[in-house]
Amino acid sequence: MSKIFNLIEQEKERQKNGLELIPSENYVSCDVLQALGSILTDKYSEGYPGRRYYGGNQIIDEIEKEAKELVNKLFGTVYANVQPYSGSPANLAVDLGLAEPGSVIMGMNLVSGGHLTHGAPVSFTGKLFKAVQYGVDQNGRIDLDEVEKLAQENSPKIIWVGLTAYPYKLDFKGFREIADSIGAYLAADISHIAGLVVAGVHESPVPYVDVITTTTHKTLRGPRGAVILVTQKGLDRDPDLSKKIDSAIFPGLQGGPHNHTTAAMAVAFNEALSSEFKSYIEQVVKNAQVLAAELGIETENHLMLKNVGVGRGYLVEIALEAAGITVNKNTIPNEQSSPFYPSGIRLGTPAITSRGMKEDDMKKIAAWIKQVLEEIKDYDLPKEQNQRANFIKEFRAKMAENENLKKIKEEVKEFTGKYPLPGVDE
Ligand SMILES: Cc1ncc(COP(=O)(O)O)c(C=O)c1O
Repeated sequence: MSKIFNLIEQEKERQKNGLELIPSENYVSCDVLQALGSILTDKYSEGYPGRRYYGGNQIIDEIEKEAKELVNKLFGTVYANVQPYSGSPANLAVDLGLAEPGSVIMGMNLVSGGHLTHGAPVSFTGKLFKAVQYGVDQNGRIDLDEVEKLAQENSPKIIWVGLTAYPYKLDFKGFREIADSIGAYLAADISHIAGLVVAGVHESPVPYVDVITTTTHKTLRGPRGAVILVTQKGLDRDPDLSKKIDSAIFPGLQGGPHNHTTAAMAVAFNEALSSEFKSYIEQVVKNAQVLAAELGIETENHLMLKNVGVGRGYLVEIALEAAGITVNKNTIPNEQSSPFYPSGIRLGTPAITSRGMKEDDMKKIAAWIKQVLEEIKDYDLPKEQNQRANFIKEFRAKMAENENLKKIKEEVKEFTGKYPLPGVDE
């Protein structure tokens, strides 16, 4: 399979030579990679520790128990399911475990910064359930009065609070009051901010919510996967909560757990318990503050959204990529265009901070971004829908040949060369 190993080397070079500003990405340690690439991938273990449907699971049981114990210690929760294959099935499992298909659930809509699995019409969470969606106000902030009004009118079984592209803090207490007023479960999806919660730079949802989901591969710096956590508050409200979550994952939604991932999660949770991890997250937030200020935007966490003009997000993503800077196009609050041709870009600092970059580096990065924005300021997405795909193709080719962008790419490469790539260089 030399072709695949060759492609892996190429991807390693891409990661090394570029600036990774996608806020949901990060670099794992060598230890996490080692566990992930281990022979644990060979084993089947449907079921849970002590209750498996396959033999030979004594050691797997110990690994899963260790991962559960470490993640509960990390967040201060009382029960954990570490088997979800990723964030999306974890969220669907919570819906299926706590509400019947066809019943009402509520979450933030995609264009306001919620995730697809918080009830978007194109997601199974929006197809299997009657999803009521709240948005943000003119300032881009969640309006709890609107959330309360929608909750009162629709009586959802579950209210979701979580973010994928929302640069402000979440008010878990405010959501709890609303959930209590209608007897709903409150679920927090902290996939993006999990590391910030661990480090104490974002309030923890644990005192307020019943259930928490989080991916493990973003600010937590673990393998691609997810966990579902149950709080003491949740268990007090519903003593069967853990059982409902467990059976929603297996046999409800999944088969055998990915044991190599479970082991890698345990390694990452142990790393996240260290004081170095806390310092790392504090730096992520400091870096985000500087990057946002330099770009003339706001953030209260690790990510930010920049409005780049109606429908221009894709163009900016392509031009930045040609300059060695990776971001993703993103809808902005009160979006005037569409999710595929949105008006913004989303940036974040978790990955570049893992490489060791600090506040002064953010100023350099912001300057490059501004140069790229200037370089393409005269380009606009065609108004006619049927011309767009071709325009994008030509634009991409033009950007790849643009001498100014090539020059920035070289500067970026020289700059990133000074920072080791975790998991590869250290
Ligand atoms: C808040 C949130 N929840 C869930 C997910 C889904 O995770 P996955 O891509 O692992 O399915 C994401 C992914 O970006 C997310 O941001």
